[in-house]
Amino acid sequence: MNDKLIIFDTTLRDGEQSPGASMTRDEKVRIAKALERLQVDVIEAGFPAASTGDFEAVQMVAGAIKDSTVCGLARALDKDIDRAGEALKMAESSRIHTFIATSPIHMKMKLQMEPEQVIEYAVRAVKRARQYTDNVEFSPEDAGRSEEDFLCRILEAVIDAGATTLNIPDTVGYSVPEQFGSTIGNLIERIPNSDKAIFSVHCHNDLGLAVANSLSAVMNGARQVECTINGLGERAGNASLEEVVMAVRTRKDVFPCQTDLDTREIVACSKLVSSITGFPVQPNKAIVGANAFAHESGIHQDGVLKSRETYEIMEAEDVGWSTNRMVLGKHSGRNAFKSRMTELGVDFESEEELNETFFRFKQLADKKHEIFDEDLQALISEVSVESDDENVKLISLKVCSETGEIPKATVTLRIANEEITSCAEGGGAVDASLKAIESLVKTEADLQLYSVNNITSGTDAQGEVTVRLEKAGRIVNGLGADTDIVIASAKAYINAANKLQEPDQRRHPQQGDV
Ligand code: KIV
Ligand code: ZN
Repeated sequence: MNDKLIIFDTTLRDGEQSPGASMTRDEKVRIAKALERLQVDVIEAGFPAASTGDFEAVQMVAGAIKDSTVCGLARALDKDIDRAGEALKMAESSRIHTFIATSPIHMKMKLQMEPEQVIEYAVRAVKRARQYTDNVEFSPEDAGRSEEDFLCRILEAVIDAGATTLNIPDTVGYSVPEQFGSTIGNLIERIPNSDKAIFSVHCHNDLGLAVANSLSAVMNGARQVECTINGLGERAGNASLEEVVMAVRTRKDVFPCQTDLDTREIVACSKLVSSITGFPVQPNKAIVGANAFAHESGIHQDGVLKSRETYEIMEAEDVGWSTNRMVLGKHSGRNAFKSRMTELGVDFESEEELNETFFRFKQLADKKHEIFDEDLQALISEVSVESDDENVKLISLKVCSETGEIPKATVTLRIANEEITSCAEGGGAVDASLKAIESLVKTEADLQLYSVNNITSGTDAQGEVTVRLEKAGRIVNGLGADTDIVIASAKAYINAANKLQEPDQRRHPQQGDV
């Protein structure tokens, strides 16, 4: 019987630390429900002490999720642990994850603490967390650059204090697979009470080795991997959940463990995270990239037609590809619409919200005859990004684009309840439209990224546009979807402009703030 490998997803916490990937509470709940359908074991929903927004998001996820454990992050400080305990009160199953840095450079320069003091903080934090839940995880931050002897001491002490999971983070992505795996093996062997806890790893991808390091740790006894959908996360990201899970499943002959995930939910989850955060998935990304199962060369195509296994090691259907089936059309009624939305994990908070979304669905179905799950997901993303208190709304957009003529756009926006119109010329229809909008909203931000993705295939497909704006170090992503990409672009720009006008709630405190 193989061991179980616990999958701890941190898309909503570390993933959200990617610049511009911040999510609203509702978006976090939608992703959490998708993760629950994927059957991940633990969902790290946020860092409750970081901001009121984070606290409320963790609280809402805790209330909405029944089948996965919901976890909140906390520095090794009483006030953080208490905030996490409070936010997780509603959870069916909860975990507090507390951390403190253990590398010489972090202890000396960031914490300005002696190693003995760090051990005291860690033990105290674990004991306090145990007052809220018997499921407590401890992480020695920057373990990848910490001394093994010191790790052994602090980890032994926190197990005695009641930690049930010991997570070894390669915080700065410095480790390499053989060495990292052997560190995990050594810790398990050297710590006298190591059998009382599960060893976990949390690898960052700065050298592109996060998945390899995580898998090497699994080969050496780790039985929890922390990862994110699409490898989202601080800087170069975290180990990608889909790659870790499919490696373990595909190479059963090598890995002595298995996960409980329903891998057929992977692609839907990946698309949802990409559309909510505005981080497109590169086409050649393993498992979830659009080309991951596409064969271009004639020799490969011929081989696959004769026998799939000649060039494919996994079945596309096993990770949720090819579910691109028509689910609804313009004759579908409100009940069919509502029940498909429920299957996709969307609960409407009120009749008005259902009616508004159904109305938009009908508008879309008039333009596009076959509506796929991906279209419904985009519809929900659009409704959820447009809150009622948005300052700027698109009223109309007219574009003139003709060969040999300079494209012109006329846009009318409602800004603070007043309708105003502006015209602009540009290099193309999109450029002219965004210039006209900017002349009204005056963000004065830098456009860092503009990308268009087809939500489904076909020329009548909806285009989903992501616009990333940066102003004074703050980065926001705007999203818009429409069968007309000029309109989708305008919606995305307006969405980003609205986000820039909201107060920035995402200042994440650091341990050095102690
Ligand atoms: O990378 C890291 O060290 C973390 C910890 C909080 C686990 O994200
Ligand atoms: Zn991290």
